[in-house]
Amino acid sequence: MKHILAIDQGTTSSRAILFDENLAPVASAQEEFPQHFPASGWVEHDPSDLWTTVAATARAAIEKLGQGAGGIAAIGITNQRETVVLWDRATGRALHRAIVWQDRRTAELCETLKAQGHEPMISARTGLLLDPYFSGTKLKWLLDNVEGARARAEAGELAFGTVDSWLIWNLTGGKVHATDATNAARTLLYNIAENRWDADICALLDIPMQLLPEVRDCADDYGVTRADLFGHEIPILGVAGDQQAATVGQACFQPGMMKSTYGTGCFALLNTGDQMVPSKNRLLTTIAYRLDGQTTYALEGSIFIAGAVVQWLRDGLKIIRHATETQPLAEAADPTQELILVPAFTGLGAPYWRPDSRGAVFGLTRNSGPAEFARAALESVGFQTRDLLEAMRADWATSGDGVLRVDGGMVASDWTMQFLSDILGAPVDRPVVTETTALGAAYLAGMHAGICPPPEDFAREWALERRFEPAMDEPTRAARYGRWKRAVAATMQA
Ligand code: G3P
Repeated sequence: MKHILAIDQGTTSSRAILFDENLAPVASAQEEFPQHFPASGWVEHDPSDLWTTVAATARAAIEKLGQGAGGIAAIGITNQRETVVLWDRATGRALHRAIVWQDRRTAELCETLKAQGHEPMISARTGLLLDPYFSGTKLKWLLDNVEGARARAEAGELAFGTVDSWLIWNLTGGKVHATDATNAARTLLYNIAENRWDADICALLDIPMQLLPEVRDCADDYGVTRADLFGHEIPILGVAGDQQAATVGQACFQPGMMKSTYGTGCFALLNTGDQMVPSKNRLLTTIAYRLDGQTTYALEGSIFIAGAVVQWLRDGLKIIRHATETQPLAEAADPTQELILVPAFTGLGAPYWRPDSRGAVFGLTRNSGPAEFARAALESVGFQTRDLLEAMRADWATSGDGVLRVDGGMVASDWTMQFLSDILGAPVDRPVVTETTALGAAYLAGMHAGICPPPEDFAREWALERRFEPAMDEPTRAARYGRWKRAVAATMQA
């Protein structure tokens, strides 16, 4: 029996999951690593933490399986997107901590570029917006602020990469400097219509192009691991950003299919096939996957706070000790109270894009307590998802059958999924395998290795665990969503 190793390098932890050739998970390991917050709105990771936790969890998973690495046919990598690493090609050492996707330090630069009128050109070519979320302005910040970096970059001594590139570089012992089309699509430097790095945008941001990795398909040859790492050379055959890997893992291969992943944030992707649909509602146009040189596009809505709102109940308000306490608490909330929580802790993402907004609570009474806060927190995830889906519908009239496939930690809560279906007024499908991000990466690698079936057959094997159907009546749904919209508007004005 052959196995596939999926490496999932996320925002708060690194995970390694071994799948058998039928794509059943058989062994896994996970390790958290420190988060660094050097200033307000700044978020950094130590690149060596990212690499050492990936290597350690991969080894631990292989050890748990107990068959050595000889039977591992391929590695698939999936990763937190947009996070930026800059390193020295000669030593392999990073010049600075990684600047994480959540980091807002380039907000002012983005505003200036917007004021200069550059956003329409950048959006038309990259599908993205001028927001500090994306890699390009973060890379510019490193080149401007790390002493000597720009001159060394111009001399070709440095390499830039998103986390996938950094891991590929380390796994192959510096032999391969590459990324995949989905990760490239998040940098603000990649022309997604023409599938190439964009020289004009690089010039605008003053980024020497010799820094950039080669862009390959999601199922492609990314070299082999150093033999000393796992005792065998293992080919790296699949790479995709985590939300795109989840789209693959959810088998959203047909135009109109969509998925939403509930991790720290929430990311909804709608497959738009070979059409690069520009958004009039401030969604992102992005690459869902690229296979055999064929690009499939998606509309994406990104929300920064989803599961993180439950962490806030636990670590900030301290009204729960464990995430699983949230649902029973929410169920016990007073139904006559209508607390609305707008969790704009780090600003608002799609479709509002307001890095300056901060969170707010509306409708407090003397009787509002932990239960009402818990319910409002879980409901905020549903309301935000509806915002995204409304924008998707407005952007693309042919938005499929309206079914939303969900995955990620929060989908374990039946109550939250029922509310989601109620407020969307649409079915919500929870699959049997909710590890869809790692599954997607394993599938891409397995397909390229020739041990997994083509997408149509993989899609047929996707199995539904439970469908949530809307049970709320339309007037209630409209009234509750209306209250949410008014709360968001008031938050943005505050
Ligand atoms: O765009 C950011 C996203 O890729 C991060 O995902 O799951 O690491 O929070 P996650």
